[in-house]
Amino acid sequence: MKSNMYSLFIFFLKWHFIQCSQNNGAGIYLSGPGLKPDKIVLPARYFFITFSSVDEETYTSDWARNVAVEIKGKTQKTNYCRIWVNKLDRKDGTFIVRYKIYETCFNLSINIYYKSKNIEGSPVTFKGPILPDQCNCPTKDLTSWLTDYGCNNVPEQIVNDLKAFQAVNMTVEVKRIVEKYHQPESTSFCHYIIKGNEIFRNCYGRHVGFNMFADNILLSLTRKVKLPDVEMVINLGDWPLIKKNTELLPVFSWCGSSQTIDILMPTYDITESTLENMGRVTLDMLSVQGNVERPWSQREPRAIWRGRDSRLERLKLVDIARSHPDLFNVSLTNFFFFREKEEQYGPKQPHISFFKFFDYKYLINVDGTVAAYRFPYLLAGGGLVLKQDSEYYEHFYQQLREWEHYVPVKNDLGDLVEKVQWALSNDDKAHQIARNARQFANDHLLPQNIICYHAALISEWSKRISNKIQVQKGMTHVPQLEFACDCSNTEEEIHDEL
Ligand SMILES: *[C@@H]1O[C@H](CO)[C@@H](O)[C@H](O)[C@H]1NC(C)=O
Ligand SMILES: *[C@@H]1O[C@H](CO)[C@@H](O)[C@H](O)[C@H]1NC(C)=O
Ligand SMILES: *[C@@H]1O[C@H](CO)[C@@H](O)[C@H](O)[C@H]1NC(C)=O
Repeated sequence: MKSNMYSLFIFFLKWHFIQCSQNNGAGIYLSGPGLKPDKIVLPARYFFITFSSVDEETYTSDWARNVAVEIKGKTQKTNYCRIWVNKLDRKDGTFIVRYKIYETCFNLSINIYYKSKNIEGSPVTFKGPILPDQCNCPTKDLTSWLTDYGCNNVPEQIVNDLKAFQAVNMTVEVKRIVEKYHQPESTSFCHYIIKGNEIFRNCYGRHVGFNMFADNILLSLTRKVKLPDVEMVINLGDWPLIKKNTELLPVFSWCGSSQTIDILMPTYDITESTLENMGRVTLDMLSVQGNVERPWSQREPRAIWRGRDSRLERLKLVDIARSHPDLFNVSLTNFFFFREKEEQYGPKQPHISFFKFFDYKYLINVDGTVAAYRFPYLLAGGGLVLKQDSEYYEHFYQQLREWEHYVPVKNDLGDLVEKVQWALSNDDKAHQIARNARQFANDHLLPQNIICYHAALISEWSKRISNKIQVQKGMTHVPQLEFACDCSNTEEEIHDEL
């Protein structure tokens, strides 16, 4: 009796599954922030299409041609809205669709076709207005904005970094930071104030051009949401500044180390690739997933690396590769720090496209002057990352696990050969770690996550400031770019009118 019930149940499950399959041609799922374009404004909005019936091994480009995407809308004046759509094929039955909106759109519809027919759940439609990222239309309530954006969890790294700070008087701290760390030739940092959602700064040092990156993320956030008044010092150098066991001072940096206690932010590199997605940058966390040519099984089973000579271990890597050409493809692309060794370790080789790295199964990540900022992209590309053990870390390392997301390699690279050999003889495990790495990148390092991290950091930091925040005389105002946008139609203004 029991077993009859059981088979009936299984029968029902199968029947149900077939029904669903017939509707869609396969189980097809949509997910991602680009499906909430009214709530989540991004420079490039993006979402995922997953065909559960296809994987890396069964994928063919003929099959992929059955999938098409169309996104269209209207403006208040015309029947057409300027939208650029880019479909990235991950060649494993999943696609990333990203789209950039150039003007305020109404009646937006996202259509996903399989074999020329709308899939179940498509089109997804929005009355609008759907704002382009350049619109300066900040939502008034930070808490509800954080919820809408899916930024509710404060990352552990932020909690840890801010633990030591309570009731900080920035008037006092900024003075101390400037007294102690202002060395024009070797350090550069900016004192930022956000007041009334406007940005002001004072920069110190000879090389402050990188303040552009800090400006850009703050401008992007203040266009989206009204930030609390806040005051912070952002280090524009690669090296963290505040040594452990010295005076505790609040400095925000792009890279951390086991010797220092700076407050971490996502690197300017991944932040800029977030803000310039479908813009000035070509390498970003989405493009790197759609430009991989080969599935795992067709990738060359060797370890690849390219880079400049910014650390001694990078020269050592060349030595190791030369004595094991069957396991490595490694070259230096530039000599600057060890020019006198160019004869020995050169000649320098031309750059290759980053996407070409993924023609190989194994990818080496060795520090440069600090952490190698390419690490997020390596994780996202679906290869096995062999990561040098290092004192340096970025904002997301704390959540990474060795042997789960990457294979650790000794700081002196002494076990690198052994680790490549391990990967060669444990192909399934290596492949699984590569898949985990990509999953990690998609869970933690996409544009939405990078924006959330900054927003959460600023929100948490603002709660710790005790002084009255006042823009000081002589500070530079950082204005938004002029961009014609009608914010009056946003949901919030309608609420206000009620
Ligand atoms: C959007 O669609 C609705 C209903 O079809 C229509 O009444 C409205 O005028 C459209 N809006 C625009 C801006 O075209
Ligand atoms: C190393 O990689 C580059 C780029 O993929 C390729 O052109 C070159 O032939 C490779 N060299 C060897 C020795 O495999
Ligand atoms: C912060 O420090 C300034 C300068 O010493 C002082 O004038 C101000 O009263 C302090 N504010 C608080 C809230 O302690």
